[in-house]
Amino acid sequence: MTARGSELEVVSEDLTTRWLGRVHEHHAVLGSTNDRAAQWARGGAPHGAMVTADEQTAGRGRRGRVWASAPGQNLYVSVVLRPTLPGPFLGALGLAVAVGLRRGLSPDVTPELKWPNDLLVGGRKLAGILCECRWAGADPEAVVGWGINVGQREFPAPLDEIATSLALLGVERSRAAILRDVLAGLESCLDVFFEGGFAPLRDEYVAGCAWLGHGIGLRDGEHRRRVVALDVERDGRLLVDDGGVRRRVDAAEIEWVDRP
Ligand code: BTN
Repeated sequence: MTARGSELEVVSEDLTTRWLGRVHEHHAVLGSTNDRAAQWARGGAPHGAMVTADEQTAGRGRRGRVWASAPGQNLYVSVVLRPTLPGPFLGALGLAVAVGLRRGLSPDVTPELKWPNDLLVGGRKLAGILCECRWAGADPEAVVGWGINVGQREFPAPLDEIATSLALLGVERSRAAILRDVLAGLESCLDVFFEGGFAPLRDEYVAGCAWLGHGIGLRDGEHRRRVVALDVERDGRLLVDDGGVRRRVDAAEIEWVDRP
């Protein structure tokens, strides 16, 4: 942030995207960009409309967690999507978004993807994605939000053990420059996804998954299992070996990975 305002206020003036982020509102402070984007969507926001904030006071992560949102240093972004795909395909939207963010960040870093949609570097979380879908009459409507740690160099405990940022990785670029690249990477993936689902993005996703073939700790609610991660399928489900039985997992999270 500068004394004259936020660099993000004018980010949409200089985009290379065709439809993503071109309709944009920026807020100095919001509860959650996802909540504001959902409200805007209900009021008729177009496909690709984007909400950014310098600070969130009620940033939300997956599974009801808090997304700590330090002011002025990181990216807190949500977009409204009006997908053309049949509803069942949308289960893999978060994975497609993860590929898009990874593409957009790749000039600077090449994050590992942790199923379903976390981006990590050196085992630490750089970015997270929150997808929220609902039916607007007969049509699906999605709000996709992401947080990317950009300039933050110090994290309070317990995040200091598990988070990283572009600045800590030696990348000194503005939030606006990062966001422009990310939107370009994401739009190119969403174009593919809305045309053909996750299948055409699956190989690029798997290229980011160094944990495939390893033992992982899988958590689904209060249920925890050690399984072996075998593959990510063309519909985005995780194929695991669970005590000798092959199982397909729709929703869960990886808590740890056995690295050799
Ligand atoms: C996760 O990894 O648990 C998902 C984190 C998603 C955080 C982003 S920040 C912008 C948007 N607004 C929110 O309230 N959450 C998402």
